Amino acid sequence: MAQVTFEEISASDFFYRNRDIAGFTNPSRAIFAAIRELVENSLDAAESLKIPPDIYVRLSFEGEASKETQIYKLRVEDNGIGVPPRHIPSAFGQVLFGSKYKLKQQRGTFGLGGKMAILYGQITTHQPACIMSSNGMSRIYMYKLMIDIQKNRPLILDRKVLLNKEQWRGTIVEFCLEGDYLRAMPKILDYFKQTAMVNPYANLTFVDPKGRLYKFTSVTKDMPKPPKETLPHPYGVDVELLQRLIHITPYKNMPEFLINHFHRVGEKTAQKFLTFSNISPSKNPKKLSHEEIVRLMHMLKKFKEFLPPDASCLSPLGEELLKVGIVKELKPEFVAVHQRRPATYAGHPFIIEVGIAYGGEIPKRSAFLIYRFANRIPLLYDEASDVSVRVINDMNWRRYKAAPDMPIAILVHICSTKVPYKTVGKEFIADRPEVRKEIGNGLREVARQLQHFLTRREHVDRERKRLGVFSKYLPKIAQFSTTLAGKKKLPDIEKLLKSVKKFGGEEEV
Ligand SMILES: Nc1ncnc2c1ncn2[C@@H]1O[C@H](COP(=O)(O)OP(=O)(O)OP(=O)(O)O)[C@@H](O)[C@H]1O
Ligand SMILES: [Mg+2]
Repeated sequence: MAQVTFEEISASDFFYRNRDIAGFTNPSRAIFAAIRELVENSLDAAESLKIPPDIYVRLSFEGEASKETQIYKLRVEDNGIGVPPRHIPSAFGQVLFGSKYKLKQQRGTFGLGGKMAILYGQITTHQPACIMSSNGMSRIYMYKLMIDIQKNRPLILDRKVLLNKEQWRGTIVEFCLEGDYLRAMPKILDYFKQTAMVNPYANLTFVDPKGRLYKFTSVTKDMPKPPKETLPHPYGVDVELLQRLIHITPYKNMPEFLINHFHRVGEKTAQKFLTFSNISPSKNPKKLSHEEIVRLMHMLKKFKEFLPPDASCLSPLGEELLKVGIVKELKPEFVAVHQRRPATYAGHPFIIEVGIAYGGEIPKRSAFLIYRFANRIPLLYDEASDVSVRVINDMNWRRYKAAPDMPIAILVHICSTKVPYKTVGKEFIADRPEVRKEIGNGLREVARQLQHFLTRREHVDRERKRLGVFSKYLPKIAQFSTTLAGKKKLPDIEKLLKSVKKFGGEEEV
């Protein structure tokens, strides 16, 4: 009889076997994903201190791995908050370990990205990663580590504590990985450009393996308001979450339990809800039976009077910064931006921001240039599967005088405490009806502004042409009429031209 064997694998073993789902599909994509994950961590680290990020990325050539792939050393340095020394090994050597499993908008979500980059480096080059970090106080901590993939634990190979004479603050991550930079180059440069677009307050420097320097300098010191951590909204809870909250709660009656553990529940709302659901206010939450917890969850979802989540846990870019970013990177002739009001899907708050830019340095192509962002991260792969692209393709652009072959760039940014990514590689957004609707409404608003601009321009063009015709033929007509009338003195046509010009000139402004 055939034997079936069962075994358990660790989280890092799972991602080692399935690295495609984290975006590490091939040498070209892996090198892009590694840079992106580390830059993302650095941006979060600086923003959590409320200071403009200053990030230096260097990719240097180390040797040939095969015909198409090379070994590179990647170094990313930031001016962020630093990692507490006791957490450095796990933060960089244990998959699904992180500080961002919180209800507030951050780029990091899964506790995976940085480790995936290091893990990929380790399995392709068999070398350890080196991490240096300091919070700007007296010491710098240096770790050389690898990941024990089967146990999902960091393997510390070396540890040093250095004196921090210069009071340097930040984190440096350095490791080797296999990659195909030549193929990845356009995407990597695009990534930096787009990151600069939605983080116009950040300084980004990239030195590529040929020693070429790409600098994206900040154009503003203004940063979006930082997000606050929030509590779960009653419409988004499930039984597991209720059980966890009941387990940790110090509160001994229902109103206090609801008010202190849920977002948007005040005293009055709690009373109303308890009457609505026929639950005694004096009930101790720890005494709720399993059936009662299931019922509580259903009632929370049914009660119509909870206000929607507020947006303090979100940090949208804002119309001003969005415009600054677009103008800085795309240098268009016209730009319109719009921020939607906060909305929710499945109890998670989100805000959509959109922008449309026309002309200037935007190239003419056969399709619109689409920029997608989530929590200020550019999304560069799997465009066709993204909800924004579907909405854009479904819109009737002719109504707005726009067509895909015009030099038009469209930008969509979603920020949320939980961006509905479809993969852990954070490449595209799921088609949630609430999200789709907000994107559609936002796009229609900026499309109307573009239409207005294009109509005006058409008018100005027409006027300019008319003016051209006047100034070409009027002198001839004057000459001809003078001869015909048997006069010698030409009439003063300057006055006439001036009045037409004045009209045309005003329109142009
Ligand atoms: N440059 C950095 N500065 C400060 N802390 C960092 C830095 N890089 C990583 N960390 C810490 O290490 C943790 C793990 O990072 P990692 O990229 O693996 O996961 P994440 O950012 O939490 O989530 P995601 O998988 O979405 O990237 C982070 O949550 C953060 O606390
Ligand atoms: Mg990360």
